[in-house]
Amino acid sequence: MSKKVIVTAAVHPFLLATLEQKGFEICFEPTITYDQLRVQISDAIGLIVTTRLSIDAKIIDNAKALKWIGRLGSGMELIDTDLAQSKGILCVSSPEGNCTSVGEHSLGLLLNLMHRIHSAYGEIKMGQWVRDANRGDELTGKKVGIIGFGHTGTAFAKVLTGFGVEIIAHDIYPRALGWQQFPHVKMVQLETIQQEAEVISLHLPLTPLTTHFANAHFFEQLKQNIQIPTTPTKFNTNNLFYKIHLPFYNLIKNFVAEKTKDTVFFDSVLFTVLLFTYPLFIISLFFILNIFHLPTTIILVILVSLPIMGKRVQE
Ligand SMILES: NC(=O)c1ccc[n+]([C@@H]2O[C@H](COP(=O)([O-])OP(=O)(O)OC[C@H]3O[C@@H](n4cnc5c(N)ncnc54)[C@H](O)[C@@H]3O)[C@@H](O)[C@H]2O)c1
Repeated sequence: MSKKVIVTAAVHPFLLATLEQKGFEICFEPTITYDQLRVQISDAIGLIVTTRLSIDAKIIDNAKALKWIGRLGSGMELIDTDLAQSKGILCVSSPEGNCTSVGEHSLGLLLNLMHRIHSAYGEIKMGQWVRDANRGDELTGKKVGIIGFGHTGTAFAKVLTGFGVEIIAHDIYPRALGWQQFPHVKMVQLETIQQEAEVISLHLPLTPLTTHFANAHFFEQLKQNIQIPTTPTKFNTNNLFYKIHLPFYNLIKNFVAEKTKDTVFFDSVLFTVLLFTYPLFIISLFFILNIFHLPTTIILVILVSLPIMGKRVQE
């Protein structure tokens, strides 16, 4: 029986030493490409991956001897786990490994956002000192909502201790990680977070339930302007930044969403097309009818600008 294990990323020497000790034959390939892996996987018994390569049906179908896939870190989004498990391949992640790091990273993103560090840095590099627009907002005293209270969500709650914030959290399986260990966190419904939080941090895996989780509807339910740092590995934010009301936009978007299940790229194309074609259509109509005079021009301007006056949902 094959003993070959392909390691597709730089790993701690302890992992390699332990695998060797257990009699595995290591193929250490931290720069292996997708196509190379597709060939080399045919006789491997084990596979160690990060998020660098997508372990999809083409790889799994070629993995005739594969018995297990080990994922360094959290999130199985880039592995076709359903197919793997149907073929008897065990898929195991190690979320404890980097959750503290992700918690700290989330805090870094949040402070960066609230104190405009990144944007101000870019401006300063270009010789601009924009004082007022870059005035920061304090995290202290804010109400922070955490959606998904698993490994990274709880790690984020831990690093927030000391900032004097009130933390509310939502999870569909709230008892999964023993949230009793977090007496300073109040478990609430999603709606409470949407209505009360001033900061929202998403720590969800990508599943059929969370696809397009942060869509226009999600933002419409928010009662105030909020700050959102995000860390998910693969997370669809449908209309994350703006929802602009254009005629037929929602109608066409919903139709395509149902057919393709993916609107992220389509959204931007549709938005651009409608943004330009609608005013052009109205102007051409008035030219054709040859009725350009003052009242008509005023109506024309209103008609053209109304749909473009979008509702800004989140910045
Ligand atoms: N960017 C990074 O470096 C990095 C690192 C680690 C994890 N991640 C991402 O973060 C995701 C979460 O990681 P984790 O280790 O915290 O996973 P986890 O499984 O420990 O926690 C996820 C939590 O989300 C909850 N959940 C699932 N669907 C939900 C829904 N619809 N509503 C509310 N709660 C829901 C689950 O019950 C679970 O408690 C990963 O899937 C990965 O995409 C990113």
